[in-house]
Amino acid sequence: MIYAAIMGYGTIGSGVFEVLEKNKDKIAAAAGQPIEVKYVLDLRDFPGTPVEDKVIHDFSVIEKDPEVQLVVETMGGLNPSYPFVKACLLAGKHVSTSNKALVAAYGTELLAIAREKGVNFQFEASVGGGIPVIRTMYRAMAGDKIQEITGILNGTTNYILTKMDQEGWSFKEALKEAQALGYAEQNPEADVEGYDTCRKIAILTALATGREVDYQEIPTEGITEICAEDLRYADALGLSVKLVGSSQVQGKDAMVWVAPLMVGKDNPLYGVNDVYNAVLIKGNMLGTSMYYGSGAGKLPTASAVVADMIEEAQNLNCHVSMGWSDEKLKVQPSDNSVYRYFLRISGKFEELHHAAEHYLGECRIALLEGLNEFAVLTEPMEKSAFEQARGRLSEMLAQSGDRIIQVIHAEA
Ligand code: HSE
Repeated sequence: MIYAAIMGYGTIGSGVFEVLEKNKDKIAAAAGQPIEVKYVLDLRDFPGTPVEDKVIHDFSVIEKDPEVQLVVETMGGLNPSYPFVKACLLAGKHVSTSNKALVAAYGTELLAIAREKGVNFQFEASVGGGIPVIRTMYRAMAGDKIQEITGILNGTTNYILTKMDQEGWSFKEALKEAQALGYAEQNPEADVEGYDTCRKIAILTALATGREVDYQEIPTEGITEICAEDLRYADALGLSVKLVGSSQVQGKDAMVWVAPLMVGKDNPLYGVNDVYNAVLIKGNMLGTSMYYGSGAGKLPTASAVVADMIEEAQNLNCHVSMGWSDEKLKVQPSDNSVYRYFLRISGKFEELHHAAEHYLGECRIALLEGLNEFAVLTEPMEKSAFEQARGRLSEMLAQSGDRIIQVIHAEA
């Protein structure tokens, strides 16, 4: 028997308990022995539930109990999860977490402690919810050099964009439903402003390069400026808007960004809807492979945490390296990157589209009935060239009191 403790009995923590109970036999066979939850640490009590007798409120009980070998951290945030996880590792316990904020901020330090103590710090559930993307990177792709990662990494925003597009829901309605379904962060700003995706692409980039990534260096744009009209224009152009995290490895560094991206029907990300996430990973030997599945939610995320617990149980006396060192990666600017650009321009199409094309080059045009504006989609251009053209076009439009209403990247 291996004893475990769950710190944080919210959506994911209670899901971990449920997965351990429901798949008990399968898990015992995979782990080599049964896994039994001895403690549930939470501020609350849970009378009348199966964890009623396991609830504790004092962290030191877990820290000091030598019988507890596996600890699950599903509290979220950094405080007290960071000091608690650190103390568990220092006490020689294995830790698995779903907490991307913790991994992005302290992954390097916590992995170093785990290495030193001969235990494991695992975080499969921190990226892509239930999709086994992290283990795929350090195990299945161990022989590849990873060159590029592009992913829809946030279930909440993908759900919001899908519902706004397909059901005509408002942003607020879709967010409220995502919260009710347990997808959203406690503070949904982390989802909609792209911060959650930023931390996840930082974690994947660290695993791809073996170098620490400061997520605060990653240019990040969320979906709060995306509106129903953008989605209607995208439909008209045969495109779909996705919040994407992207990383292109360049030598020892990488170009990393988070932003809404318009993708076409031949891009596998086009059909990734609702709470689903998908990650495209390009290896120098494998080429591009795609990982798709539930990106948030109780049981999918808990399933990934339990898979970590099993790997820890299989490696009780051995640290499994993920190749994440404390060398620092420099996030490179994306000035030379080539994209198409989607722009909405206020004013009369007949009067302005020639001028727009004068500055932006030949474009695809889209019009929506009843709006005093039009949209254009440029040919692929370098970011720096686009910024210059955009500036000149804005000046010209200002003369007639018009303006660029919206700009969204589109894949080249
Ligand atoms: N809020 C996150 C999401 C949860 O929506 O993807 C899973 O990390």
